[in-house]
Amino acid sequence: MRFVGAVERNLRVDADPDQLFRVILNLARNAMQALERRAPNDPGRDQLRVTGRREGAVVMIEVSDTGPGVNDRARARLFEAFQGSTRPGGTGLGLAIAAELVRAYGGEIRLVDGTIGTTFRIIIPDRAVDIGTRRGERVRA
Ligand SMILES: Nc1ncnc2c1ncn2[C@@H]1O[C@H](COP(=O)(O)OP(=O)(O)O)[C@@H](O)[C@H]1O
Ligand SMILES: [Mg+2]
Repeated sequence: MRFVGAVERNLRVDADPDQLFRVILNLARNAMQALERRAPNDPGRDQLRVTGRREGAVVMIEVSDTGPGVNDRARARLFEAFQGSTRPGGTGLGLAIAAELVRAYGGEIRLVDGTIGTTFRIIIPDRAVDIGTRRGERVRA
């Protein structure tokens, strides 16, 4: 498996580090599992890529793999707890939990259409500054 990390220098995300880690871990785990399902004699398609960049007050993190893509059955209920799984032994919780965590930051996770393999995009906006009561941590992704 080839891992490519392309995170902008000094990127900061307005989110709890443990929770953000959990979100990325869930997506990366799915990506690894997808790569395991690819044709074994297909060495060119064995990549997991994580990118991060800021666009104004929003941070975009993408987790991509060159696996077989998300099938139609999984697409239909992708972010619903216990519903989206198409893997034997899968819980269908990974994406539901990830989406819930990101929603708590006012962000979202989307499946990006039209890519080779699969790309999920996490969008996390900076929180509004509430002078005096602001308690959020700014962390390095
Ligand atoms: N990177 C991916 N490539 C292909 N299919 C994916 C990918 N990520 C998620 N899926 C599909 O979405 C389903 C739901 O994922 P998830 O919520 O993490 O549950 P689980 O991994 O337990 O099945 C998976 O079973 C799979 O069918
Ligand atoms: Mg999963």
